[in-house]
Amino acid sequence: MHLSHILAISVAAAVPGLCQLDKLAKAAGLQYFGTAVDNPALNNQGYMKIARDASEFGSITPANGQKWSNTESSQGRFSYGSGDAIANIAKQTGQQLRCHTLVWYNQLPGWVSSVYSRDQMQRIITSHIQNVAGHYKGQCTHWDVVNEAMEDDGKYRQNPMYRAMGIDYITHSFKTAAATDPNARLYYNDFNIERCCNAKINGTLAMLKAVKAAGAPIHGVGMQGHSRVGKSPSKREMKETMALFSELVDEVAFTEVDIRHTKLPTSAADREQQAIDFLEVVGACLETKKCVGITVWDFADQYSWIPGQYPGEGEACLWDKNYNKKPAYTSIASLLQSAASAGLRSPPTTTAVATSVGANGIMTAAALATATAVAK
Ligand code: G3I
Repeated sequence: MHLSHILAISVAAAVPGLCQLDKLAKAAGLQYFGTAVDNPALNNQGYMKIARDASEFGSITPANGQKWSNTESSQGRFSYGSGDAIANIAKQTGQQLRCHTLVWYNQLPGWVSSVYSRDQMQRIITSHIQNVAGHYKGQCTHWDVVNEAMEDDGKYRQNPMYRAMGIDYITHSFKTAAATDPNARLYYNDFNIERCCNAKINGTLAMLKAVKAAGAPIHGVGMQGHSRVGKSPSKREMKETMALFSELVDEVAFTEVDIRHTKLPTSAADREQQAIDFLEVVGACLETKKCVGITVWDFADQYSWIPGQYPGEGEACLWDKNYNKKPAYTSIASLLQSAASAGLRSPPTTTAVATSVGANGIMTAAALATATAVAK
């Protein structure tokens, strides 16, 4: 049954200093608010003070350390130093470890790309997953088992695994991961599958149906959530997408969120727009029953992948280069806090959406949240 209400919620004009994102996210009914962390940041004390704060980030993800090129750069020779360095933080702090990623066409060692036979590829994938997921067994709350298998036109990406095995590589990867680490939540993870409904989303839905029918135990779909300020998908578009994925899997999540400016330096108005765009993501998750959490793809501009990949673009994270919180941070905190206060994800579910921010980036009392209730 669907219930709909409209209610207005006064949003506090300021966020109490002690309210951190994961604490607020959990109070609002999500399972975690997390971040990716990459190895070069580990000896930056200022960065690590924030990264290790479990109230700020209840989950951390190795940005690169668990990828194939890092864990098995030569066949059968496994190394876990980079991934373990991040995993050990989670052990020390009690943060969840969201693991990324087992089978991906990128950061794939050359020796895998030159495998052509189906049987050989299957053995290689089996060994890789058994070793890597076996090494991290019991530590990963979630695993991105297969990453970016689809093209923007909705067709299967012609990667080395697909060329050797067809879509069976996806099914096989999930089966192997489930057998290796039965307690991890197993995800399919991709980008450009946020804005309903493009060819890639349709292709992804068809792929999920096909591999599930073939026995792949897929628990979740991760929408990476990389986007550009002012061009991000709307909350409504993302909710529509998540509703479709929710028909096929137990849970959905935003797994790699960053929202980059396409021209630098930024103005105050640009930063406000970025805050609004982030709010759309968080609001979409809050309003989707199966959305369990949000991970940002690093929280600090200093370590963002964007400038390296898109020269001239960047400042995509929640903290600026001086480790000051941006308007996007304070706005997200305000939204989570208002959602928590309203008990929005407790049955009967009522969800609140903040749609605007004040000039200082903090939602003003005048920026009343429009709230819609969706109860199932
Ligand atoms: O490790 C080498 C180092 O030895 C060398 O000196 C240096 C010179 O450029 O490169 C280093 O490798 C870089 C690696 O990150 C580790 O820092 C690669 O050049 C660089 O391309 C690589 O970028 C990573 C990218 O994935 C690769 O596609 C980013 O850090 C990482 O954040 C990014 O993450 C991906 C997700 O896994 C999947 N979704 C998209 C997301 C963004 O691209």
